[in-house]
Amino acid sequence: MASAPAVTALKPIPRVPGLPLIGNLLSLTGDPVRFFVACYRKFGPACEIKVLNQRYVLLGGVEAANLLGSRVGKDCLRSRQFWEGLLTEYGASRALVSEDGESHKELRDIMRRGYSRESIRGRYGEFVRILDEVYARDWKPGARVPVVQAMQYMAVGTLGPFLTGATPVEYIRDIRIAILYILNVLVTRQRPRFFLWAPEYRRARARVVELGHTMIAAASERVGTVKDEDKNLIDDIMAAHVRDPKVLPTNDLIVAVTGPYVAGLDTVANTTAVTIYMVLKHPEVRARIEQEVDALFDAGPVDEDELMNRLPAINGAIMESMRLYPIAVAQIRTVVQDFEFQGYPIRKGDMLYVSAVVPHFMDEYFPDAAKFDIDRYQKPRAEHMQPGAYSPYGRGPHTCLGKSLAEVQLALSMARLFYKYDLELDPPDYVLKTKTAPTPGPAMDFKVRVKGLRH
Ligand code: HEM
Repeated sequence: MASAPAVTALKPIPRVPGLPLIGNLLSLTGDPVRFFVACYRKFGPACEIKVLNQRYVLLGGVEAANLLGSRVGKDCLRSRQFWEGLLTEYGASRALVSEDGESHKELRDIMRRGYSRESIRGRYGEFVRILDEVYARDWKPGARVPVVQAMQYMAVGTLGPFLTGATPVEYIRDIRIAILYILNVLVTRQRPRFFLWAPEYRRARARVVELGHTMIAAASERVGTVKDEDKNLIDDIMAAHVRDPKVLPTNDLIVAVTGPYVAGLDTVANTTAVTIYMVLKHPEVRARIEQEVDALFDAGPVDEDELMNRLPAINGAIMESMRLYPIAVAQIRTVVQDFEFQGYPIRKGDMLYVSAVVPHFMDEYFPDAAKFDIDRYQKPRAEHMQPGAYSPYGRGPHTCLGKSLAEVQLALSMARLFYKYDLELDPPDYVLKTKTAPTPGPAMDFKVRVKGLRH
């Protein structure tokens, strides 16, 4: 664990060899998580990497995961500098992801209810109906379905009605392009700034701003007319804006209201796409899942309190997919105060990659870690419960605010898909290819074939 600031006579941080000029850029863009695990194995929990001449300190392992949630982590690490470019680009003064301390807490409190499982309480039946409608578009008998794309449609189609009251599927491409450029150019800085002049980004940016304006206009009309219990995330954001425009000024609204699509689109699409692949690759898992989902849906309306307990195989498959293919491979932070980390000096001004998912790939925490084993999470094994071992939703103050909602969305969407459809990989011996941008996940050309309907 990290301890209080006192940074003298400590071990020098080992440097990871890289190429002239670009440093470790290729490893970082090629297969970042494999690179992080290799660095941890060779150099330990802290090492120095270079990306285009910029020095970063890479922290990994359970040590790094635990740092994020610790007092030292809260006092010494900040997100702002990495998100500054996004704020400037959209004319905003602050956003949930860019803030820390009191400012972050203030925004998180405004958005907590809207992003949580509360937003679908009492509406699981409606959620399943929407899923059926959304799936009916792409998943037709005989169809060869591009899975990531279909799951992006599902993510927006199911989040929209509950979080924002709008389902802007026609903006999906724009949101993805905007995320891609923002992450590559403004946040991780793996691409130079002039990339932002690319016409495809300018168009996508303009469309996202247009979407934001449309959402704000619709929500403004609802202000004062919606009962408290019917308010969604956007209503809560607009109410906070009206109550005190200093807390959420007009300029901050675009980023705030489009946030759920940015946060929920690729995360959910990539995770569900991997889950589909993994289940279809493992017939014994698929058989258990089919049995489980048939029992769930054949018994009538879904019991909200019991849902997660009734889907151990589905949840095990989702958790394994998030372990082996995490969508956030590192949190990036700057250091505002010197501190000691595992005997290494971390200095004010250092830029950090903090990879809390390194333990996902370590046999020490997940025996036979490369194996897709959906029973790891059941007691008494409960391998994910070891401190710092399992962090697909991040760690510390910025831990995924949508986690409780995402868990239900992932479980229901996968349960319903395997209940309704008989699927096979296309071709049947397909081996998953992956992409790393905008977020790590299956390649866009990953397809499955709908052999027929099960129900
Ligand atoms: C597979 C599903 C998901 C995964 C694996 C995931 C993962 C993450 C991770 C790792 C972070 C932390 C990033 C950091 O510390 O810098 C995060 C933040 C966040 N996520 Fe998720 N997420 C998922 C789905 C969702 C959904 C469906 C929503 C809501 C629509 C959502 C909303 C958020 C928000 C608002 C934040 C920012 C929290 C903050 O900065 O305080 N996420 N997510």
